[in-house]
Formats: sequence, C-alpha cells, structure tokens
Amino acid sequence: MSFRIQPTPVARPNRCQLFGPGSRPQLFEKMAASAADVINLDLEDSVAPDDKAQARKNVIQAIGDIDWGNKTLSVRINGLDSGYWYRDVVDLLEQASDRLDLIMIPKAGCAADIYAVDALVTSVERAMGRTKPLGFEVIIESAAGISHVEEIAAASPRLQAMSLGAADFAASMGMQTTGIGGTQENYYMHHAGAKYWSDPWHWAQASIVAACRTHGVLPVDGPFGDFSDDEGFYAQARRSATLGMVGKWAIHPKQVALANEVFTPSEAAVTEAREILAAMEKAKVEGAGATVYKGRLVDIASIKQAEVIVKQAEMIAGT
Ligand code: COA
Ligand code: MG
Repeated sequence: MSFRIQPTPVARPNRCQLFGPGSRPQLFEKMAASAADVINLDLEDSVAPDDKAQARKNVIQAIGDIDWGNKTLSVRINGLDSGYWYRDVVDLLEQASDRLDLIMIPKAGCAADIYAVDALVTSVERAMGRTKPLGFEVIIESAAGISHVEEIAAASPRLQAMSLGAADFAASMGMQTTGIGGTQENYYMHHAGAKYWSDPWHWAQASIVAACRTHGVLPVDGPFGDFSDDEGFYAQARRSATLGMVGKWAIHPKQVALANEVFTPSEAAVTEAREILAAMEKAKVEGAGATVYKGRLVDIASIKQAEVIVKQAEMIAGT
C-alpha cells in the first residue's frame, strides 16, 4: 500500500442529478420538488444559441427565488470552446445568491481547462467578497478528457464530482452509435451461434472511477437517453454502481426514482455487510485474520468492502 492514504470525497449523497434546460423555467419548481440529490440547471447543450442570454437570467433568478431544500444546486456552464462560458461564470458569481453550490464544467479536456475556470472563479469571488467557495463538477466526454482523466481529477480542490457524458464522448471517439449510453447493438461477442452483448462504456467508466478514487472525487454516470426504457436504465445504472460510481443523471423526472433505487444500498446488502463486519470482529477476537461467512472466505479486505456499503447507507440515511 502506498503511504499516501486515499482521500475521501465530499460526504453528500449524489445518487441522482436531475437536469433541466435553463430556457424552460416552468420546470424549475418541479425539479426542486423532485427526489433528486443534485439539481443541474443547464446553460449548455440543452439551450439553443438564441436562448443563451435569457437562460442565464432565468437560472440566476431561480437560484435565489426557488426553495431548493437541502439539494445540491449546480449550474452547467458552457464549454471553454464557446463564447459564452466566461459570462456564465461572471454573471453567476456577480448576480446569483450564494445558494449556488457548484458549477459543472462540460467537455473538460485537460487540467488547464479546470485551472482557467478556477482562476476566473477565484478572482470574481474575491472581488465580490463571496465567502462560500464555489465547488466544481466536470464532465469527461471527449477523447482528450478520457486521455487526461487523472490530471483533470487532480486539477482543483474545488472539484467534487466527475461524470461520464456518453453522447459527446461517443462522438469525439468516432464511435458508430447515436445512442446515449446503454447496450449497443453492434458491440457483441459471438460464440457457438449466440451473441453476447458487451459494454462499450466500461473502459471509460472504470478509468473515471480510478481517477476519482485516487483524488477524492465522486464518480458519476451521466445520461441514459432512452427514458422509455426503464430496464435499460437499470442495467446501465447497476453496472455503474458495481464499478464504484455513486450515482447517475436523470434527463427526465421518471428516471429519478430508478437512480435512487440503484444507488441506495439495499437493506439486504447493508444487513449482509454488517454480518460480515460482525464475523470479522469475532475472528479478530479469536486471533484469526480470515474466516468463513455463508460458505465463502472473508478476510481483512472484506472489512473494507463491507464498510463501503455501510458508510454509504449511513451517509444517505443521515441527510
Ligand atoms: N425536470 C422536471 N420536470 C420535468 C423535466 C425535467 N427535466 N422534464 C419534463 N418534466 C415534467 C413535464 O413538465 C411534465 O410535467 P406535467 O406532468 O406537470 O405536465 C412531466 O415532467 C412529463 O414530461 P414529458 O411530457 O414526458 O416530457 P417533455 O416532453 O416535456 O420533456 C425532455 C422531455 C426530455 C425534453 C425534458 O425532460 C428535458 O428537457 N430533459 C432535460 C434535458 C437536459 O437538461 N439535457 C441536458 C443534460 S443531457
Ligand atoms: Mg455533453
């Protein structure tokens, strides 16, 4: 084990992030009333160019006017390749109330992208005398982003969460698909006359989880576009949870309950984790480092695995 202890991410639930376009203010109250842990008001790709300025105004007003309860409130700014992002940052920090918790930086390609936004944010915060530091979240959704994922995860102490954005990622990688996440018809193994579907997002997801866990950032799965396909959403979300991600986006309100279900450890899982901890406690008293639980080996590593589940459940219950 490295002598460097793995840093712990911010202790807040991030099971579901519900998105809504900044140009549809009629949705904001509904978003606030949802069961999502995080709300993302979007200024980027769900807002048409002619609506950018008005969307920014809508969002700034809503941050102060709407009761967002105990949700984490985030605004997705425009990309650094656009002519909009600097005004997004400046206007948000000069005009929005400090109820705003995070900004989400899309299409992050290298650590310097985050550094540039951090420099601007830090300067406007100082000028305005803002005392609550703005947090960041980023989207990995390009070939450059996944290639530089580790330096991006380490780029700023403001960084709390990192999401995989499947659609832009697929486009940037030149992947032959128009689907936003999920099973891809042509990504399969063939054996003895049968097709076995595989997961084209696995590598990107696992890379994001590793970078995030190295630097104390929450890894999050991004959008699942086909909001009519609950089973497809469940399958994608369960794979993400199994890989170590803590939550998933909802691009339609009906996906919120699905994400919350998958990313809240089940009662059965928590009970089993507690039983493993108890079995290991008993083994310790007896001077053993390993023991048998339900016919399988558990050892000191099992304590850490079980603690991940118990701590997640306690953190969620505590909110
Ligand atoms: N948040 C909260 N409520 C929402 C919502 C959202 N993102 N999207 C739709 N609703 C509401 C609708 O207003 C409607 O409410 P009602 O029953 O009171 O009339 C209900 O949920 C059902 O909506 P529906 O008619 O199925 O959806 P729609 O056609 O109005 O909108 C989308 C569908 C996909 C365009 C819309 O959900 C959306 O804009 N999603 C977010 C897109 C986004 O932000 N993308 C960026 C990240 S990838
Ligand atoms: Mg995108």
